[in-house]
Amino acid sequence: MDQLLDFTGKVALVTGGSRGLGREMALALAARGADVIITSRKADACEAVAEEIEALGRSAMAYGCHVGHWGEIDAMVEAAYERFGKIDILINNAGMSPLYESLSAISEELFDKVIGVNLKGPFRLMATVGERMAAGDGGSIVNISSIASLQPSPNSEPYGAAKSGLNALTRSFAFAFGPNVRVNGIAAGPFLTDISKAWDMAAFEKQAKSRHALKRGGQPDEIVGAALYLAGPGGSFTTGTVIRVDGGTP
Ligand SMILES: NC(=O)c1ccc[n+]([C@@H]2O[C@H](COP(=O)([O-])OP(=O)(O)OC[C@H]3O[C@@H](n4cnc5c(N)ncnc54)[C@H](OP(=O)(O)O)[C@@H]3O)[C@@H](O)[C@H]2O)c1
Repeated sequence: MDQLLDFTGKVALVTGGSRGLGREMALALAARGADVIITSRKADACEAVAEEIEALGRSAMAYGCHVGHWGEIDAMVEAAYERFGKIDILINNAGMSPLYESLSAISEELFDKVIGVNLKGPFRLMATVGERMAAGDGGSIVNISSIASLQPSPNSEPYGAAKSGLNALTRSFAFAFGPNVRVNGIAAGPFLTDISKAWDMAAFEKQAKSRHALKRGGQPDEIVGAALYLAGPGGSFTTGTVIRVDGGTP
């Protein structure tokens, strides 16, 4: 196997690994030698991905966990260390971007949930797993952010703010846990996952054709190249940064 893409003996934890971008990254890591902990709220959906990983000859653990709740995160992390003894790669991928009718219609509960899933949970995971990585053999953390963090736009105000906060944490944690833990982010553009099912596709395709360099949305597996680069040996001199994988979104 190409050394830059060799994850043999590594253990990866992927939040939101049950579907969409998370599932693609989990399967790609397993295909290159990693054992993977798959977590999302629905344990049975995680179990299905774990079975796919085991079919590749790797070990996998499925765990139901709401990443907005620190108690659940801590229990999940403990279970992962108990099973595998280490975590080398943390991919903070679970996220949600709700639609709303107006800014004043956003309830305090919804605002807190967006911050909880996209910012507060990744903070706790980085703090607990990153500290153990730094005290052990090191590791790599990849935070899945969004172009909404770089170009705040209408219809995603709390989400863009949460992902901007995630970018800030990405940078600061790189310094907190360097030199043996690298922390990076991916500012994802429009990917055609379950998230896109809420979009007006006709309007999206028109806008993509006229404004986006690649003139289309991304397929879920098109996140993999950047994720493997940042997570693995290829990214050994890359830390504290957020790279765009957005098909040339203006
Ligand atoms: N698709 C895009 O256009 C796009 C653009 C920019 C950024 N992103 C970011 O990319 C990441 C992945 O998005 P995606 O498009 O793959 O979304 P997706 O297909 O909707 O998948 C979201 C994943 O996160 C999990 N999840 C949702 N809420 C959770 C919670 N409270 N606790 C734990 N897990 C939770 C879901 O599983 P359960 O339902 O089982 O919990 C699922 O595995 C997100 O951070 C998103 O913000 C996506």
